[in-house]
Amino acid sequence: MNILVTGGAGYIGSHTCIALLEAGHSVIIADNLCNSKSETVMKIMDIADKEVTFCEIDVTDAEAVDIIFRNYKVDGVIHFAGLKAVGESVDKPLDYYYNNIVSTLVLAKACQEYGVNRFVFSSSATVYGDDKVPFVETMDLLPTTNPYGETKAMSERILTDITNANPDFSVSLLRYFNPVGAHWSGLIGETPNGIPNNLMPYVTQVAKGKLKSLRVFGNDYLTVDGTGVRDYIHVVDLANGHVAALENLTEGVHIYNLGTGKGTSVLELVKAFEEANDIEVPYEIVDRRPGDIASCYADASKAKRELGWEANLDIISMCRDAWRFEKNYTDFVESK
Ligand code: NAD
Ligand code: WQD
Repeated sequence: MNILVTGGAGYIGSHTCIALLEAGHSVIIADNLCNSKSETVMKIMDIADKEVTFCEIDVTDAEAVDIIFRNYKVDGVIHFAGLKAVGESVDKPLDYYYNNIVSTLVLAKACQEYGVNRFVFSSSATVYGDDKVPFVETMDLLPTTNPYGETKAMSERILTDITNANPDFSVSLLRYFNPVGAHWSGLIGETPNGIPNNLMPYVTQVAKGKLKSLRVFGNDYLTVDGTGVRDYIHVVDLANGHVAALENLTEGVHIYNLGTGKGTSVLELVKAFEEANDIEVPYEIVDRRPGDIASCYADASKAKRELGWEANLDIISMCRDAWRFEKNYTDFVESK
């Protein structure tokens, strides 16, 4: 199939492009490079040893999207393009609602106009709010506490309504847990701007000496060791989950958790990182981070049952691959 991958130069999108190419599909990337670099497209082609088509466009631009659908035969869309920083979305709600909602509307409209019936959407476990773990797809969505989470819940709703009104349309809503790690080649991985907000990139930058020490946000949660528990999933497993979702798509709306089903605490992750890479990660315990929940992990059984997909790579592989990429990556972030 010819797959339009929006946000294909980004972290999860680039790994998914490789998985698609390896599975024999063709890829058209649409990305405005607002949070990525064109070099990543070259690296995708190097790793997969295949060509991709790259269109540097903003997917909120209906005319630019129309040109792609007019000029290329698109069989399906995987829509990654979006702004994703939770804290920033509180300061810039208009940017987040505009970018993340309008892009979904523009792409869905183009799909309708050109009779493209396969649509895979990047959602997030954040739509579950702070309900009881493990999170199951059938749970009611709770109001999220930030505009970013709202854009994911709203996009899910928009795509569901469109599908209900158009029985030929097929949509897969993929709720990711905590994607980490990098491609085994060390060529592509996560490259956050400035000081990272997320745990794994913070840990890799501490290990590299770019940052002095990890601040562990709270050790008084009701968890195995008091620190926050999350379902970390290797980005390569996550990428393969998209190929499975696309290839098994049938009419209607299908919601899948993409996680491992296993929870890992902050201190367990730090220990795994130190063991995997034989390197020390200094840390200090500080106050809880506002808005954090104690535990978040998936019931990942539906994806296994219906898509035949499950995550295979363990926390050690995630830590090893994240570190291999960080060691190779040359951008310098000042230590604070
Ligand atoms: P990323 O920022 O690395 O990738 C997003 C890509 O989309 C970037 O290359 C960016 O340049 C592009 N983009 C953004 N807005 C665009 C627009 N209007 N037009 C064209 N291109 C645009 O982020 P990621 O981590 O790869 O996340 C991909 C998707 O998965 C996002 O929708 C994100 O919300 C979702 N998600 C990410 C996580 C996570 O922890 N990384 C978790 C759950 C869901
Ligand atoms: C993980 C754990 C922190 C940094 C976020 C988004 C979510 C999704 C994935 C997009 C928590 C602790 C972290 C640090 C720490 N993104 N931590 N010190 O918050 O689970 O999820 O990314 O959809 O929407 O909210 O991920 O990596 O920030 O935190 O102690 O410097 O690590 O408290 O327990 P989170 P995270």
